[in-house]
Amino acid sequence: MKRAILLSLCALLIVLSLGCQHGSRSIKRLDPAIEAQIDSLLARMTLEEKAGQMSQKSRLGEDGSGDIETEIREGRIGSFLNLQDVKARNKLQRIAVEESRLGIPLIFGLDVIHGQRTVFPVPLGEAASWDLDLMEKTAAVSAREARAMGIDWTFSPMVDIARDPRWGRIVEGAGEDPYLGSLIARAKVRGYQGRDLAAPDTIAACLKHYAVYGASQAGRDYHTTEVPMRIVRDVYLPPFQAGVEEGAATLMSGFNDLNGIPTSGHSFLLTDVLRGQWGFDGFVVSDWRSVKQMIPHGFAEDQAHAAALGASAGVDMEMVSRTYLDHLPDLVRRRVVLRQVLDTAVRRILHVKYRLGLFDNPYVNENLQEAVLLAPAHRDLARQAVRESLVLLKNQNNLLPLSRDLKSVALIGPLAQARRDLIGTWAPAAEDGDVVTLLDGLKKALGETCRVHYAKGCQTEGDSTDGFAEALEAAGRSELIILAVGESESHNGEAHSRTELGLPGPQLQLVREIHKIGKPVVMVLFAGRPLTINWEMEHIPAILLAWHPGIEGGNGIADVLLGDYNPAGKITVTFPRSVGQIPIYYNEKNTGRPIREEDRFTSKYIDSPNTPLLPFGYGLSYTTFEYGNLKVETPNVEIPGTVKVSADITNTGGRAGHEVVQLYVRDLVGSVTRPVKELKGFERIYLEPGQTKTVRFEIPTDALRFWDINMEFNVEPGDFHIWIGPHSAEGLQGHFRLTN
Ligand code: BGC
Repeated sequence: MKRAILLSLCALLIVLSLGCQHGSRSIKRLDPAIEAQIDSLLARMTLEEKAGQMSQKSRLGEDGSGDIETEIREGRIGSFLNLQDVKARNKLQRIAVEESRLGIPLIFGLDVIHGQRTVFPVPLGEAASWDLDLMEKTAAVSAREARAMGIDWTFSPMVDIARDPRWGRIVEGAGEDPYLGSLIARAKVRGYQGRDLAAPDTIAACLKHYAVYGASQAGRDYHTTEVPMRIVRDVYLPPFQAGVEEGAATLMSGFNDLNGIPTSGHSFLLTDVLRGQWGFDGFVVSDWRSVKQMIPHGFAEDQAHAAALGASAGVDMEMVSRTYLDHLPDLVRRRVVLRQVLDTAVRRILHVKYRLGLFDNPYVNENLQEAVLLAPAHRDLARQAVRESLVLLKNQNNLLPLSRDLKSVALIGPLAQARRDLIGTWAPAAEDGDVVTLLDGLKKALGETCRVHYAKGCQTEGDSTDGFAEALEAAGRSELIILAVGESESHNGEAHSRTELGLPGPQLQLVREIHKIGKPVVMVLFAGRPLTINWEMEHIPAILLAWHPGIEGGNGIADVLLGDYNPAGKITVTFPRSVGQIPIYYNEKNTGRPIREEDRFTSKYIDSPNTPLLPFGYGLSYTTFEYGNLKVETPNVEIPGTVKVSADITNTGGRAGHEVVQLYVRDLVGSVTRPVKELKGFERIYLEPGQTKTVRFEIPTDALRFWDINMEFNVEPGDFHIWIGPHSAEGLQGHFRLTN
């Protein structure tokens, strides 16, 4: 066993010494004076101090044996996470800068996922806006507020593609599509980092969780991932590469075992691909104890082995666990780990600290918070983000928007007055008191002339129906009923996978009881993932998907319910009819026996249609849009070249509104089989009633590349279908041909 480990380590050292060369070559040179300072620091640092720079500690002191202040003074900590108290931060920073031997500043990280004090919709909700500019702005506001609270670095964006809504962390990402996911990754990096990382209102971004964490088997968090390398490349890696190209300062390795190798010890991903092929010049942080967790994975024999594997594979900083601190110096002395591995990692970390300006300005102004946190412009942006993230799933007979003549409305459901559940997962700086609940927002919007009868009805958990009578009574007294139901904050997020995706607790029962009364019912659905709302879609006339909308939730939802804003959100993840259909996603392969109703021996179920409940890209508006006049301007394109196509979109309804116009292609024959559709473009347009716009797309043939039979990234000549439409299951179809 020992021998096998030694051999594997030797092999790793050879591979990694090559990888490290890539790595150090790929680091962008800063100002030569700064490079000289890094050189000089590296020359003076002991191995213990280097391991210290490579170690991150949590505010909570997990896995810590020593006193924090002493450890900082001794240069045994390079970074903190989860500390949000700016005074405490400055105090620790002062010890690092003024009392440690080399005076290297600490870097403070936090999960600023969808806002800091101003909380925006959860990422999956915000993605439904398809508004990249908005997403960049919300990241910039998050950065400004986080920096004012002493944060230098966010563990965001999560760019994991997710095709399984059982996985609770689907809420943290942009959904199932690599093209859209890549553009959102870029927007977030730009928003957090701005033009200058050293500015007082920008923070370092962190692309996570590298890689393929979103494919956890059976949707169970932290579970194994077994994904063919071609799919890893085509589907899961593009958002990471895009974020790297956009200049993300850091990246986080994952918890998962990918095809037999834990991703925090995956030298091919972390060194060959990330450094060698993409030229990433920031640093890699592990996930929470994910280096040490290579022991239970059965990949590392003990902590020393885990440290050697993690550091040598390319994880520069270890989060929370102490295998680096406790073992790297000795591993270098014993020549198990190359000294150069530590030097390269520390150089990368110091590099980011310099870029953040931490050497020049290590302290954060303690008086910024009052002016910055929850600034009116931030709240306005949050309200706008809510409006844009809402997805109108159904609106029979134009029940929405609500009439201003209503005299009484019942607002029923466990989420009507909820605060934390509107905030959603991962919002460590959020305060419940900042939340505008749906009840507050609705009352304000409806004004004095309309009475709002509120009843909770039930909880989101358990099976008690004790509150039903009160809810039915409130419904009986009202002209129209609004149901506020769905998932609570704790139904999704990390370690919150589900095996059933209906409304949790007794909520569906409540919905059915209310429906029986026969009055008009609008359902506002709060969720952090696709839900199997079949009964609801069939029986409830109007459904508005509100996700977990953040602190301006109540206002933004009321804006849409009352028609002050015309919804235009479109889901970026497929909604299945049942858990049995999962994984289900729009860009699947065709199979050799694609479904034909009349033929039993085709790829289908005996108890369910193949189609999802709601397709990727779907969402309605209060107006209607007609697509016409598809023109493929370039039916024959030589590679390399550009495919040009356009269509006319007309607002055929009575209200102005936005429409997300989507472009899909299908590569009909490939050296390996190709998806039935792939998103390759979109545009969010605004049309007055009766107005027509021609939307033009130019698709460079490079954007049609994929990992071919030889695992090379190429575009192949041949025939393609192309669609321009309102979602992935509908559109005007055209054709073009690529030639060499
Ligand atoms: C999560 C990461 C997060 C880290 C720090 C981990 O459990 O997987 O996404 O950034 O904790 O809070």
